Amino acid sequence: MLRRIRSEQLQVGMFVARLGGPWINHPFWRAKFLVANEDQVRQIQSAGVQEVWIDILKGRNIPAPDTPEIPGPVPAPESTPDPMDPATVPQPAATLDAEIVRARELLQSGKAVIGSMFADIRMGRALEVNGALLLVDSASRSLSRHGQALLALARLKARGDENYLHAFAVCALMIAVGRTLGLPDDEVRELGLAGLVHDIGKLTLPDTPVHKASERTPDEEEIYRRHPSAGYRILNEARLYSNIPLDVCVHHHERVDGRGFPYGLAGSELSVHARIGAICDAYDSLTSSRPGHQPWSPARAMEYMAVRVDTLFDRRVFKAFTRTVGIYPLGTVLRLRSNRLAVVCAQNEADPLRPKVMAFYSVPQSRPTPTELIDLRHSGETVVAFENAAEWGYSEQQLMEIYAGSA
Ligand SMILES: [Fe+2]
Repeated sequence: MLRRIRSEQLQVGMFVARLGGPWINHPFWRAKFLVANEDQVRQIQSAGVQEVWIDILKGRNIPAPDTPEIPGPVPAPESTPDPMDPATVPQPAATLDAEIVRARELLQSGKAVIGSMFADIRMGRALEVNGALLLVDSASRSLSRHGQALLALARLKARGDENYLHAFAVCALMIAVGRTLGLPDDEVRELGLAGLVHDIGKLTLPDTPVHKASERTPDEEEIYRRHPSAGYRILNEARLYSNIPLDVCVHHHERVDGRGFPYGLAGSELSVHARIGAICDAYDSLTSSRPGHQPWSPARAMEYMAVRVDTLFDRRVFKAFTRTVGIYPLGTVLRLRSNRLAVVCAQNEADPLRPKVMAFYSVPQSRPTPTELIDLRHSGETVVAFENAAEWGYSEQQLMEIYAGSA
């Protein structure tokens, strides 16, 4: 049961259900928590928050009778879109090619936001998340307009931008998987932030063990394995009052069989958020270029991960992941029975094994053909193999030009 009070009435022991004003303007971006100490009370008041909704069933009520309740509406239930909340405003659907244009701009601005956040951490300055949170909401809106455009684009990483774009790609994947799993909007938003900051601890470690092209020595491996805990410390010092980014940051290298690091947690010791983080981080790492690793095709990464379900990765979350990015993710190159190469350009929700593809290359003739859009549900064509586009002389960027014009 919610009561609306003035922020100066706030006391330790009250459960804050919502803070007045846009959430972005105050440090308590996860605006649901038990007020644990006077410091938090002072922070809310000094952040200029005028009014607070408290849940009197979960925490302390205001003393009656000399502290009247402020009349006024209580917030809308969480399941309805909140006009104050940019992440939950419904977005009109967009075509793939239209959304790719917007997602490209978003990636550019995101690179600047993440770059300055990372630079602050390297300089030992406190983590500033407001820009990151705006980015999470922009990613969220892009995924609402088109479920695949941002995910496909975020896989393409120019040399030198890998770290920023890995953070952004994992952010987008985590938002998308969180939605597929039906998690509440506030959790999905936290997952997005978790994606942006999950590897932030690497910024405080020496470069060599973290970005080494060859195999790490045991000492280097020991240093590398500190990055989840180092990230946890940075986030803890930023005092976000939010558990999900902390949890994902410290546990994204844990594995369900207990053979991960830093703590070797297993099974139910790992939260669903940590399991989502592990899968999204692994997928983006496998499909990205980094020192000593050529990017794998999405299909190869999916195959690799699928055989490691129940040892490295959680089965339920992986299932949601495949529903999110598709068994044949956008941009996957397939060989068809007619001996043509085709690139996946849209999923068929009802029949994920038969996506829409764009045929573009004749194998027997060793040359490109005029493109042809084929819906594998309604065609005699079938998939006979995965192909590596690079072996046929196509970059991911060229493939995108083929499939982005096809939706
Ligand atoms: Fe990591």
